[in-house]
Amino acid sequence: MLNESTAQPIEPPDGSTAVGTGKGGVGKSTVAAHLAGESAASGDRTLLICVTGQDDDDLGIKRYGRGVQPQGPSVIDGEGLYRAIHDRVPLQPIREVRPNLDVLPGGPRVAEISNLLMLRMLKEGPSVVQSLAQALAPIAPLYDRIIFDSAPENDSLEQLVLAAARTLIVPTRSDESSIKGMERISKNFKIVKTQVNPYLQMAGSFLYGSNRSATLMHADVRSEVRKALGEGTPILETIVGYREVPARNARKKGLLFGEYAELLPTSATNYDVKAGRATAADVVPDTIIPLAKEMRELNQEIFEHCRRVA
Ligand SMILES: Nc1ncnc2c1ncn2[C@@H]1O[C@H](COP(=O)(O)OP(=O)(O)OP(=O)(O)O)[C@@H](O)[C@H]1O
Ligand SMILES: [Mg+2]
Repeated sequence: MLNESTAQPIEPPDGSTAVGTGKGGVGKSTVAAHLAGESAASGDRTLLICVTGQDDDDLGIKRYGRGVQPQGPSVIDGEGLYRAIHDRVPLQPIREVRPNLDVLPGGPRVAEISNLLMLRMLKEGPSVVQSLAQALAPIAPLYDRIIFDSAPENDSLEQLVLAAARTLIVPTRSDESSIKGMERISKNFKIVKTQVNPYLQMAGSFLYGSNRSATLMHADVRSEVRKALGEGTPILETIVGYREVPARNARKKGLLFGEYAELLPTSATNYDVKAGRATAADVVPDTIIPLAKEMRELNQEIFEHCRRVA
């Protein structure tokens, strides 16, 4: 989307962080939702903006009707994001999805933003990449922290987010295509920083959903991350383990890991399922406890790194 000409910078809000990498399925949406939830739970007014074509609904907005919809047409399924950018009006989030947490959900309509920007680009030039920053600016002072979830394999949407954020945090998995995905975000990071958002800083990268005891492999991945993102890139210590069942169940219930863990003491057991008193979906797995703990530690470490570089 960006070319040689330049646009006037818009200073991104303090405390705004994009979670992004060029590869799909590495944990971006999970981590973005948890960062936003953790921030809100600590008392900070928080906004989560999901610039993603797929709505995973980690917070149960669509499935369980959480939060207070703004007046007027629906903002679900990426409609709110699309409309704000299309009509050049301020973002209108769903309020109080949790105490202190407002959200602009992603969804299929977000995918259309790329086409809209490409068309506008012909007339307006590279400043179109600032469309999200512009739609956010009027409401940004309402928040202490703003988290962006981002879409993979889409340069326009990645650039749109990077133009609106102050820091970038990059999750990765250990496979080769995840490392390649980092090369993509790294390229977009450099283009956006040079051309429209000189305030953008790399907060660091972290390995997500990995075997926590595979330390030799982790060392290997760290060196590949540094190759992809630059030698000075901070690499976080916390590794959230690969724990498929609790991660999947929590998302299905529209609950963050910590919230899901709170259901454990009153959960049905496998014994209840065998006896026909409950279904497998009613059983909260014990592994939610370490998963919630690791995610919380990761969130704290990310906030610490963002503070350090901002
Ligand atoms: N710690 C974990 N262990 C195992 N699976 C996990 C863990 N955390 C999340 N998952 C699962 O991994 C999958 C991908 O996670 P997520 O949707 O957060 O990735 P993403 O990078 O946002 O993907 P996309 O690029 O498609 O938007 C989801 O099914 C999610 O429930
Ligand atoms: Mg996602």
